Amino acid sequence: MTITVRAAAKFNLHLGVGPVREDGYHPLATVYQAIGLYDDVTAGESDAWDVELTAEDHIALGEIPSGDDNIVIRAGKLLAAHHGIDRAAKIAIHKGIPVAGGLAGGSADAAATLVALDRLWSLETPDEELLSLAGQLGSDVPFALIGATAVGGGRGELVEPLTDNGDWWWVVVGNEQGLSTPAVYRAFDEHAGADVADPEVPERLLIALEKGDPELLAAALDNDLQTPALALRPDLAQTFADGEEAGALAVQLSGSGPTVLMLCRDAPHAREVAGALQAKSYDRVWTAPAPVAGAHVLTY
Ligand code: C5P
Repeated sequence: MTITVRAAAKFNLHLGVGPVREDGYHPLATVYQAIGLYDDVTAGESDAWDVELTAEDHIALGEIPSGDDNIVIRAGKLLAAHHGIDRAAKIAIHKGIPVAGGLAGGSADAAATLVALDRLWSLETPDEELLSLAGQLGSDVPFALIGATAVGGGRGELVEPLTDNGDWWWVVVGNEQGLSTPAVYRAFDEHAGADVADPEVPERLLIALEKGDPELLAAALDNDLQTPALALRPDLAQTFADGEEAGALAVQLSGSGPTVLMLCRDAPHAREVAGALQAKSYDRVWTAPAPVAGAHVLTY
């Protein structure tokens, strides 16, 4: 028997970052939105841990870390340990989320693995326990479980669903060269200095989501990691300029980058903006609706 679970990419509509904590993480006040790019994770019975990776066109696969360096193996072992069972599994990941792009693709895989193995091994882990295990695996993993739109506090792992009445469309522009998340946070520390205020989610963003109004959302987007990421990767400024020229309502870096998201009015507008970028020879361009569901079992 195998179980396939689908998990979505995330975008931070707002990413407010505070001063670095003693444990090296940064306190966040973020609003996550799950967008329609997906990884599918298939778990099957096996005596030994094994991970296989395949991908959609234009998604480059780097080296697959083996053993405990691989987040899905860590997820599987953590779930087994939580239940005091000694089991392994083989995990096949089919990637539709660009790798190392600031879209939390690895976190989506970890969340999908927790859900798939919970089902494969008939564990029926309560949601609160799955969320806690997810938080131990990475800051973005709990959000990948719940999906849709949510506020994230703590280092990002404390999630609460949020009212979102929008029917949003994004153009997603990937980049060949990844960006290291810790390096972007370090650049943030250097840029922002010591007197960083405690981060907050702005009221106008919550209003934009409740009204479902793209113009209001365009004016409410914000990402504190954008300036330091652009300082590390000045070439990305061209993608911002090209998105604006193509008529996007707003252009913002996804998390720590390098993926750039462009807000559109509706699906036809998203196709138009994507077409304009493809005409300029961008070859990693996707359109994605949002919000979409968190990690869920696919049934055929
Ligand atoms: O939690 P996760 O493993 O995804 O974080 C990866 C890295 O990103 C951390 O090691 C840390 O350098 C940085 N990070 C941070 N503050 C956060 C989340 C991540 O500094 N809130």
